[in-house]
Amino acid sequence: MDPPASGTIPIAISVDGLRKSYGDIDALRGISFTVDRGAIFALLGPNGAGKTTTVEILEGHRRRTAGDVSVLGVDPEHGGRDLRERLGIVLQSAGFDRELTVSEIVRLFASFYGHPRRTDDVIALVGLDEKRSARTKALSGGQRRRLDLALALIGDPDLIFLDEPTTGFDPNARRHSWEAIERLKALGKTIVLTSHYLDEVQRLADWVVVIADGMIVAEGPPSSLGGRDVSEAEIVFRLPEGQCWSDLPEAVRRTASEEDGFVVVHTMTPTQALYVLTAWAVARGSELPALRVLRPSLEDVYLELTKDATEQR
Ligand SMILES: Nc1ncnc2c1ncn2[C@@H]1O[C@H](COP(=O)(O)OP(=O)(O)OP(=O)(O)O)[C@@H](O)[C@H]1O
Ligand SMILES: [Mg+2]
Repeated sequence: MDPPASGTIPIAISVDGLRKSYGDIDALRGISFTVDRGAIFALLGPNGAGKTTTVEILEGHRRRTAGDVSVLGVDPEHGGRDLRERLGIVLQSAGFDRELTVSEIVRLFASFYGHPRRTDDVIALVGLDEKRSARTKALSGGQRRRLDLALALIGDPDLIFLDEPTTGFDPNARRHSWEAIERLKALGKTIVLTSHYLDEVQRLADWVVVIADGMIVAEGPPSSLGGRDVSEAEIVFRLPEGQCWSDLPEAVRRTASEEDGFVVVHTMTPTQALYVLTAWAVARGSELPALRVLRPSLEDVYLELTKDATEQR
């Protein structure tokens, strides 16, 4: 049976009870998730968590031990060329002929596909215009990674796998890659990303799955992962000139502590606490110096979620 045509299925990937063992190592211990079509989906997890294993099973590069997997409506173990033509893949480490130039190698890869994108467009999309005549052996690490991305995009895939796409990039190159990935999303592509950079995931991902030790420990949008949007807030400020600790409103003092010259208030109701605090300051005609309201960052939540898995090592 032919797979459904593009645009007819809202789910790009579904995974149910996926297991993978390498001998007696249980790399994946029964994970289930779905990836919506047109979304950017991120897999986060410590070294050895099982991210590359998962991605390579989805790509059809590794066989699974158990579980159901569907990629664009097809089992990737039996997808064949039809499925491969619809996938764009950036491996965690790739190799290619180092004597070829950037445009030669992109053109070579284009010849593998029925309906490739234009070589020049793809080179421009990844920001390698100035290097199109350079031999690949003369590229820097970050530039080589951009070439990897170009090769993944040349077949005009519907679904793109990016395994640590910006590892080793300088901050500027990372920004450019993020923009390239956002342009792909705007074209309607589905993107599966692994990364160790929390800021990258925060910026790009619509949905994050955190795996540790072969199991899913949390999933959700980056803004609310692990309940970070509703967890305890910290209000931090300095006492205004001429005010001392005992002048603070009783309700604030009860939940406050002094840390390095700052007053730190821990509260589940920051709106209320701020109301009391700012009313107190305004009544005294003062500002609250260095006032900040903090929630746990994605990194805080991630470290907490993966603490057990990393402590076992
Ligand atoms: N071909 C293999 N043979 C045996 N064990 C393997 C093989 N590939 C991966 N593993 C093991 O499976 C586990 C998961 O590895 P995987 O490469 O999926 O981790 P990862 O999450 O991608 O890690 P990283 O962040 O370091 O890239 C690890 O314990 C790893 O040693
Ligand atoms: Mg990996």
